[in-house]
Amino acid sequence: MPILVPPSEQYKASFLDAVREAQATGSGLGDTLTWNVEEAEADFGPLLAALCRFEPPAELPAGYVHAEYRWLVEGDTYLGRVSLRHTLNDRLREFGGHIGYEIRPGARGQGHGKRILALALDRARELGLPRVLVTCDVDNLASRGVIEANGGGLEGEFEVPQYHDKPIRRYWITL
Ligand SMILES: CC(C)(COP(=O)(O)OP(=O)(O)OC[C@H]1O[C@@H](n2cnc3c(N)ncnc32)[C@H](O)[C@@H]1OP(=O)(O)O)[C@@H](O)C(=O)NCCC(=O)NCCS
Repeated sequence: MPILVPPSEQYKASFLDAVREAQATGSGLGDTLTWNVEEAEADFGPLLAALCRFEPPAELPAGYVHAEYRWLVEGDTYLGRVSLRHTLNDRLREFGGHIGYEIRPGARGQGHGKRILALALDRARELGLPRVLVTCDVDNLASRGVIEANGGGLEGEFEVPQYHDKPIRRYWITL
């Protein structure tokens, strides 16, 4: 069964394969598509440091909230990643929400998306959050399926032109 772990050197080869996969297909979250694989291959430390820079008790740059990244792995294989923001700010309340996730292109359609969100909800419960906001593009049917399978209640569909160029859905999940 895949589990959530903190990002670590142990999964470097598999993680970088997944980033290459995402960049080759153009399908993944923004930073996955822009990581410099050659630099990360040569020195994985800066990437790991970037992924934990918002974890408490880190001091935050203006406009950021505390957050943690976790990887979904099975054995040494990287399957996907999730970020869990511990609070919302005005922007995240509009677009982005508490939780964002992606599954590597080659591992989609096997239930990993549902599982990564379910595990992130367990972690949100541990943190004491009473409910979480999850947003997705209206036309992202896979993400809608993931959220709805995890009990997401639809707040509505919204245009958020200041943050994103497509209409989005906001869902709340009570923990
Ligand atoms: C969204 C994403 C995480 C889904 O991951 P996944 O592992 O393929 O999802 P699952 O296999 O758990 O599927 C969950 C449900 O979504 C629906 N679904 C999955 N793929 C779908 C597709 N291509 N079209 C329509 N519905 C789909 C199904 O209802 C499925 O449940 P079912 O298999 O019981 O019918 C993945 O597509 C991804 O990483 N996309 C790019 C990044 C992204 O969009 N992240 C979300 C931002 S909000």
